[in-house]
Amino acid sequence: MAITTEFPISLRDPTLLDCRGLINGEWREAVNQKTFPVYEPATGSVLHSCADFGREEFVEAINAAYVGYRSFYKDTTAKDRAQLLRRWHDLIIENMEDLAIILSLENGKTLAEAKGEVTYAATFVAWFAEEAVRNYGDVIPSSYANSTVLTYKEPVGVCGIITPWNFPAAMITRKIAPAFAAGCSVVIKPPSETPFSAIALAKLALKGGIPSSLIHVIPTKDRKASLELANNPLVRKISFTGSTSVGKMLTKLASETMKKVSMELGGNAPFVVFEDADLDQAVDAALICKFRASGQTCVCANRLYVHRQVLEPFAEKLTAKVRTLKLGRGIDDGTTQGPLVNAAAVEKVKVHVADALAKGGQLWTGGKPPSHLSGFFFEPTIITGATADMAVATEETFGPLAAIFPFESEEDVITQANASEYGLAGYFFSQNVSRIFRVARQLECGMIGVNTGLISAAESPFGGIKESGVGREGSRYGLSEYQNIKSVTIGNLSWGVGKGRL
Ligand code: SIN
Repeated sequence: MAITTEFPISLRDPTLLDCRGLINGEWREAVNQKTFPVYEPATGSVLHSCADFGREEFVEAINAAYVGYRSFYKDTTAKDRAQLLRRWHDLIIENMEDLAIILSLENGKTLAEAKGEVTYAATFVAWFAEEAVRNYGDVIPSSYANSTVLTYKEPVGVCGIITPWNFPAAMITRKIAPAFAAGCSVVIKPPSETPFSAIALAKLALKGGIPSSLIHVIPTKDRKASLELANNPLVRKISFTGSTSVGKMLTKLASETMKKVSMELGGNAPFVVFEDADLDQAVDAALICKFRASGQTCVCANRLYVHRQVLEPFAEKLTAKVRTLKLGRGIDDGTTQGPLVNAAAVEKVKVHVADALAKGGQLWTGGKPPSHLSGFFFEPTIITGATADMAVATEETFGPLAAIFPFESEEDVITQANASEYGLAGYFFSQNVSRIFRVARQLECGMIGVNTGLISAAESPFGGIKESGVGREGSRYGLSEYQNIKSVTIGNLSWGVGKGRL
């Protein structure tokens, strides 16, 4: 298939839209000339085609990245790396409109959400520009006379970066900004559903001066080819965001060469509204936390536990707000809710809704794909009377279904909330200060939102426990994921210290 070049909207900088991959500074089509179609979720038709690379291109990129990282770390100071990141950040902000249009078209999220994501993406670059220069080591008192122990934090080397379609821009920067800050190079496999945001960000990175040997973008539909990132011994770190099953498979493969891994995997977030909550605050938070990105974030509320005393008013208020959401193409004025990513995503929501209704759930609003839209849409849906035997209790819907479970006591709801193999995000609402500390301690999640439905920010450690993964992104901990600690023991110093008494 020839690579198409039409795009539904013109960009201020048309060169940002590219359907080729990037190896060693060269924008290339695949050696075998293969391409794959990228769909626009709002219409269901092909948006553009993209180069479909094979294994040999991954190998070439990894080899180039290996050469690149060795000179980058040797030849740059932390301040140089911070400046490169700062320039990239500024270019992202300058090109916000174009990046948001590309993102909205390939992912479906509304233009406002897309701009929000590009801003969020830029915050990681700014954050790690600032962290790059705070890469402190230790001076450790030695137990040997006339010796000292120092530690250095060194780059792990070449990093394999595998990102998801639900945050096509922010998951790129959350992973590669700390990699560059640490002195690493990256080979990125962007999601085949949304490769163009990654490509546009890489263009801006090069424009900002990031050396071309450090950043390689290899779009592909060929899963086997992309496993080169997990198998190749030159790759020393894999950072993946996606499903738990793929994360486990990558971790197993990576263990063959003992790579460092960061796995940001599935969630099944509980969202608990206690009887002493500020109900309006909880409703507003539920709207954002459940329906942001049409329910397609791994920190979206999946199980809404609402105390029986406040369940009716909560469901009424949430239904009223949800009914004001306007489904449509993300780039159209007035749209507040975009489509799902593809037909399979719509099917999963359908299955969860049908299962909940068959098991006694009551439908308050939504419940089906809208008849007036042709893309991959599903109406924002609210169901009460949810129970533990429903699919939505154990599986992440990843779509706009708010399933509301009643509960009676704090103890009971903590048990229910923790009854999941996942432990990514959890939320609860209460005005009681002791309860806030008590419940936050007991919820088995890597991230907790108290009286808020928004927890994601560059400064805050992002990551899960249990089968939701390992490692933390963003925050001061995000940098160390791309570093190894090296200890240097210097002996026989002429300090004049005795041999010790013991
Ligand atoms: C994700 O869904 O993977 C990321 C969500 C976020 O950063 O808020």
